[in-house]
Amino acid sequence: MLNIMKDKDNHYRNLINGNWVESKEKRYITIYSPIDNAEIGSVPAMSKEDVDIAIDTAKQAQKLWKNVTIDEKAEILYKAANILVANKQELAELMMKEIAKDRKSCESEVDRTADFIRFTADTAKNISGESIPGDSFPGVKNNKISIVQREPLGVVLAISPFNYPVNLAASKIAPGLMAGNAIVLKPASQGSLCGLYLARVFQEAGVLPGVLNTVTGKGSEIGDYITTHSGINFINFTGSTEVGKHISQITSMVPLLMELGGKDAAIILKDADLDLAATNIVSGGYSYSGQRCTAVKRILVMEEVADALIEKIVAKIATLKVGNPLEEDVDIVPLISEKAADFVSELMEDAKEKGAKLLVGGTREGNLIAPTLFDQVTTEMRLAWEEPFGPVLPIIRVKDKDEAIKIANDSEYGLQSAVFTENINEAFYVANRLEVGTVQVNNKTERGPDHFPFLGVKSSGIGTQGIRYSIESMSRPKATVINIHS
Ligand code: G3H
Repeated sequence: MLNIMKDKDNHYRNLINGNWVESKEKRYITIYSPIDNAEIGSVPAMSKEDVDIAIDTAKQAQKLWKNVTIDEKAEILYKAANILVANKQELAELMMKEIAKDRKSCESEVDRTADFIRFTADTAKNISGESIPGDSFPGVKNNKISIVQREPLGVVLAISPFNYPVNLAASKIAPGLMAGNAIVLKPASQGSLCGLYLARVFQEAGVLPGVLNTVTGKGSEIGDYITTHSGINFINFTGSTEVGKHISQITSMVPLLMELGGKDAAIILKDADLDLAATNIVSGGYSYSGQRCTAVKRILVMEEVADALIEKIVAKIATLKVGNPLEEDVDIVPLISEKAADFVSELMEDAKEKGAKLLVGGTREGNLIAPTLFDQVTTEMRLAWEEPFGPVLPIIRVKDKDEAIKIANDSEYGLQSAVFTENINEAFYVANRLEVGTVQVNNKTERGPDHFPFLGVKSSGIGTQGIRYSIESMSRPKATVINIHS
């Protein structure tokens, strides 16, 4: 697979109109591994002119693609899912080097993506239109009927993040394709090798030339240009709130679907199963070193059970393996960049200076940060509000559930929250008051299963993802009204 996408010097190319091409100016961005800084390849630094070509190509190809039957499109997606699984080891290896994710998670990301693609094809095959009788509206006779079908939007710009370079690219591409759109994929530079690999998979599966194109390049050079391009009809972005807000400020009249930052709270009530809560907090907070938008990012625990919970969390953190994912099976991996680790250090320093109690970790070697737990975190500390995107969890002790709800809702974010309790009434009391897209009862915060609606409120996002929801977001209703004159 890889040989088609790159030359002998490890320069990868972009997929444009079914061909793997360099940028016009033949400039490259070198991709280094966050594990050891080794050079693992380079991707074209595309220019505005290259972007024009990619978008124009998509626009033309979409005219053909929208007329390919849903069944034929689905067959291509089933094939793509099989090709992905057949190449799991090669892709997982590339992913591990490119984003420092542990091997098991890389492999499961590939499997999950194949499942996602198959489920998307199945779902699209089962979406039907509707007919609406006119006479249910006051004053309308029974001589009108609206036949509502779904139409594609045109060219979808899919901007994927570094942390799920395969899954969060496919979760935009597959629903977009099934809805009849052409796609321009702009992956984050770190993660772009995996994004290009995924494009190769779709190409191999038979997606028509020009229907899926890729654009790699520096956000500072082409970011604003591509997002405001008149040929783009829809933007599906996953990434930071800062960039998401910027995109929403500079675009106009283009629908947006965005998954942004989060500060997901785990709220532990007095009657919670503390073993269950501790297990979920540790896996939810520290997997992939906390570099997930849905990671548990703060613990709001009732004072009465705080000590008992902490004891269990500390014991579980001690079992986490820290190190190099290329060498061993590890839980805690180096962060994506030195800069990302610097930011986490800053939050830890602020918490220490303001009196938080460091219970575990707090150490750092380069961009590898040990799993860290702070107790006695207060709302004056940055760690109570800011998203570290690293393996650091603050414990905020609260007197009752209403205080927990207040602190949870005072956040600028509203992605998910978890509540741990054995009492269904208490679960609903808390869930009904939280300003988030999803509340998990007795589980860590997480996106999957991927056919559930996934959304963030406030600064955590715009619109709703999830397989059927994404297909609907990337299409629009088209009504044909039959008027009967008899
Ligand atoms: O980082 C953002 C992802 O959407 C999180 O997905 O909950 O499956 O890890 P996840």
